[in-house]
Amino acid sequence: MVSDLFIQELKQYSDIERIVSGYVALKKKGRYLAGLCPFHSEKSPSFYVYPQTQSFYCFGCGAGGDVITFIRRIENLDYMEAVHFLAEKCGMTVPEDEKADALGMQRKRVLEINREAAHFFHDQLMSENGRQAYGYLMRRGRDRKTIRHFGLGYAPNEWHALTDHLKSKGFSEQDMVAANVAVMGKQGGAYDRFRNRVMFPIIDLRGNVVAFGGRALDDQGAKYLNSSDTPVFKKSKNLFALNFAKTSKLPGLILAEGYMDVIAIHQAGFDNAVATLGTALTEEQARLISQYTDKVILAYDSDGPGQAATKRAINIFDEVGVKVSVLSMTGAKDPDEFIQKYGRERFAMLLDGSRNAVEFELGKLRSKFDTQTADGKVGFLKDACKLFAGIRNPVEREVYVTQVANELEISPQAINAQIQSLDKREQYKERRRQKADTNIYIGQMAAAKNDLQRRANLRYAMAEEGLLYCLMKNPNVFKEVYANLKEQDFVTDINRELYSAFAKRLEAGQSIEMIELSSELSPEAMSRVSAIMATAPSQRCDEAALQDYMTILAEHRNVKTKEQVAQMDDNALDAYVKQLAAKKNRRS
Ligand code: CTP
Ligand code: MN
Repeated sequence: MVSDLFIQELKQYSDIERIVSGYVALKKKGRYLAGLCPFHSEKSPSFYVYPQTQSFYCFGCGAGGDVITFIRRIENLDYMEAVHFLAEKCGMTVPEDEKADALGMQRKRVLEINREAAHFFHDQLMSENGRQAYGYLMRRGRDRKTIRHFGLGYAPNEWHALTDHLKSKGFSEQDMVAANVAVMGKQGGAYDRFRNRVMFPIIDLRGNVVAFGGRALDDQGAKYLNSSDTPVFKKSKNLFALNFAKTSKLPGLILAEGYMDVIAIHQAGFDNAVATLGTALTEEQARLISQYTDKVILAYDSDGPGQAATKRAINIFDEVGVKVSVLSMTGAKDPDEFIQKYGRERFAMLLDGSRNAVEFELGKLRSKFDTQTADGKVGFLKDACKLFAGIRNPVEREVYVTQVANELEISPQAINAQIQSLDKREQYKERRRQKADTNIYIGQMAAAKNDLQRRANLRYAMAEEGLLYCLMKNPNVFKEVYANLKEQDFVTDINRELYSAFAKRLEAGQSIEMIELSSELSPEAMSRVSAIMATAPSQRCDEAALQDYMTILAEHRNVKTKEQVAQMDDNALDAYVKQLAAKKNRRS
């Protein structure tokens, strides 16, 4: 990328206090400055700027980093674009390394190819060539306005329709392949990847066409063909139609399974529907959604796989703090079919009555057990109580307990007693687990709110963070640390990423200042660095602490997983806790 020398120079001219002040009203608070966070909505300031380390950190939402990260986030730019942006502000020109330049240029060309291809496909659909595909969409109830709105298209049933067109516009075969709209033949020569398909362009939040989905018109090959990951597209991080849904006035987002579902829902007047791109919902997508709403309506298919996917999605959304309700459709296999069959009013009613996650689970239990029999009743009750024990809101819990009590004709007290004993067991286990932990510092960290891996491995994550903090404060200890601890000893991915970036620079005799790290690290990783520094006052950083952190991480190999611990009976748990305590005593 760009040289450290240039970045150092840039840093001198783009003081973080001055740059951030252009966006946020900052007030001096001792050695820091504070203001209202521009990355989430808040009424009292939790956004801090630290002139000393030239960094920022929000204790509310966890956004953090250096001045470049700040610009990346607030202007929605990638690293190089942010460097250019800042350089321009202070009248500098960026001396570019050829490789970085080449990659940036290719991304640009891939985006141009996608845009051109989308136009081509759309024109084909609207021409004589696309008559059959157009008819297909009409038969399925899509209207002209919708086709235009979504920029739907048609890939002709030919081998070189698009590739020839793109060549005539001056694009190279190499770039077409990179964009994944063409495939290189065995004898050389690129041919069209999408043939005889209705085309759905996938548009990112900046309005770029980043990928395509294509639905077959005949029974040849897969029903859907999607773009693979390219220099401008990652399946797991994008959602179909989020570019429209993000500005919807309707509350919450509707998550459906397929392109056709989303389009049908939009056409019915609900412009807040999105879909994943031919894969199951990822944690990244759930987090992306959580940036726009705290309420999702799941409108997956009503078949077996759809219901399994619903269950999975409920868990993922729960972890990122998004409330879920589930659309319960009968008489149709998916939202598209439902709307075609019953119309938009019925669909609106469905949305109003969408059941929440607990009701969804209860519904599943009802079909699993025959509650007319005694055995069925007991089984149902056992599972229901487990479900209720997970409800933290007492009022909500009460509602379900009463409902089930009536249903099974037993007293609510009996159910509550059962739940309470489950609660106690859980609390007891939790206490024992915590006892086995060395509390290094309070593991609260806004930047890691939604990091499941960190939560599941808190003890190790905290040791890792302590260690990273020691390294930042005192890079001289690096040699000693690195002799004992390699990248693979790190348990959590993001901390490992940080450690390996630190190691790379320190081994090469370079410094690990924030602004230099930001060329190698994602904004998420930069936020984490900021979080570690900002929570530093509660962090130990002496020789003894360093040893502790290293010991804990070295121990990890022998340690049972959380799942294994949860499975243990009380005796085994006891033995395990004693074993850990013995280890700890040996140390001190
Ligand atoms: N999908 C895919 N590859 C397949 C089948 C499905 O990528 N071979 C993805 C597509 O994103 C599709 C979604 O899974 O939109 C849902 O699949 P499915 O329910 O089978 O299709 P529908 O969206 O209902 O499409 P249609 O109504 O046209 O059959
Ligand atoms: Mn369908």
